[in-house]
Amino acid sequence: MSDLSGLVENISFPIIGDDRGNLIAIEQMKDVPFDIKRIYYLYGTVENMRRGYHAHYHLSQVLIPVSGHCTVMTHDESGKRTHVLNKPSEGLFIKNLVWREMYEFSDDCVLVVLASELYDEDDYIRDYSEFLKILESNNAEEV
Ligand code: TYD
Repeated sequence: MSDLSGLVENISFPIIGDDRGNLIAIEQMKDVPFDIKRIYYLYGTVENMRRGYHAHYHLSQVLIPVSGHCTVMTHDESGKRTHVLNKPSEGLFIKNLVWREMYEFSDDCVLVVLASELYDEDDYIRDYSEFLKILESNNAEEV
């Protein structure tokens, strides 16, 4: 696993390829830095629809565009960043307390998400101003 000390990091998965095609295997705590408790995927997304608009108190995730492409905006203590996800062999690790918005989905986009926790609506921070307050108080604690 590459260095995942940041809150948002790219992860490259080894491609096992031969003349029959490619295969990618992902194991918990080996290829992703957590135990995988849940998998879900987005498909049939609409290109000009933006979704996400939340952070999590505890959950970490890895987003993998197994088909097509999409763009993800993340906002954490180091600011806002834009990530184009367009390779099935590369995932985007997003730790807890990172705001994310997903958009510019291609018609064929299938975005698989590996999650460190079961679904829990109470773990969501859906109010951006609440998220900014948490970010500010974390930054103040670190000074
Ligand atoms: P949401 O997390 O808001 O989607 P996105 O972040 O992609 O915009 O989830 C959309 C709906 O699906 C919401 O009603 C919660 C539900 N949901 C589950 O029931 N289980 C899950 O594991 C997830 C991720 C969402």
